Amino acid sequence: MLAIFDLDGVIVTTDEYHYQAWKSIAEKNGMTFDRELNHKLRGVSRRESLEIILAHNSRSFAEEEILKMLEEKNGRYVELLENLTPSDILPGVNELLGSLESAGWLKAIGSSSKNATAILKKLGLFDRFDTVVDGNHISNSKPDPEVFLLGAEKLSQNPDTCIVFEDAQAGIEAALAAGMTAVGVGDLKLDNCTVQYRTLEGVTVSDLLRLNLKGAIN
Ligand code: BG6
Ligand code: MG
Repeated sequence: MLAIFDLDGVIVTTDEYHYQAWKSIAEKNGMTFDRELNHKLRGVSRRESLEIILAHNSRSFAEEEILKMLEEKNGRYVELLENLTPSDILPGVNELLGSLESAGWLKAIGSSSKNATAILKKLGLFDRFDTVVDGNHISNSKPDPEVFLLGAEKLSQNPDTCIVFEDAQAGIEAALAAGMTAVGVGDLKLDNCTVQYRTLEGVTVSDLLRLNLKGAIN
């Protein structure tokens, strides 16, 4: 069995840092950006996120300016990530990883972020995963299933033995398109997942086995 975790919003809340970084770039370039729009960027690649912000503001820029904005956004975001510590790991994550390890499950990260490795190292979690697949390894971002299929392939697992944990609708769709069981995490309502937990606190391996074996809709 393989548990594949999205990173941002499932393992750690980096939302606020993405929000601050995008807001400063948007405002510098005469565009508006708010928290509602920030939610729409969950699971979406950096480039596609900027395209969503441009469309929202009905603006277009030359490719050179777009590349400059992407670089600046990431520079600001990486600066903010300096504040991350293991205390930013979301509730229940360490405990669930521990019980998956005891039960002999494989564990992977399937993230759209190109900063995934740096974030996991800052959290002290990098070595807890059997593989990390992120925005540097894929050509198509969620809702395309590539990131999850690549994780399963790297660990020689069939998709029907994989459970994906996701906080974004695009990620739930990606998991389903990969033929995997999709578990929603977080407060935002997610459609089409087998079950949604507000946090991973108290989630056990037995809960997961029940989902996967029965394909239960709770
Ligand atoms: C995802 C986040 O994990 O990574 C998105 O949910 C973000 O909000 C995407 O845009 C890309 O992240 P990065 O770190 O490569 O800019
Ligand atoms: Mg996410």
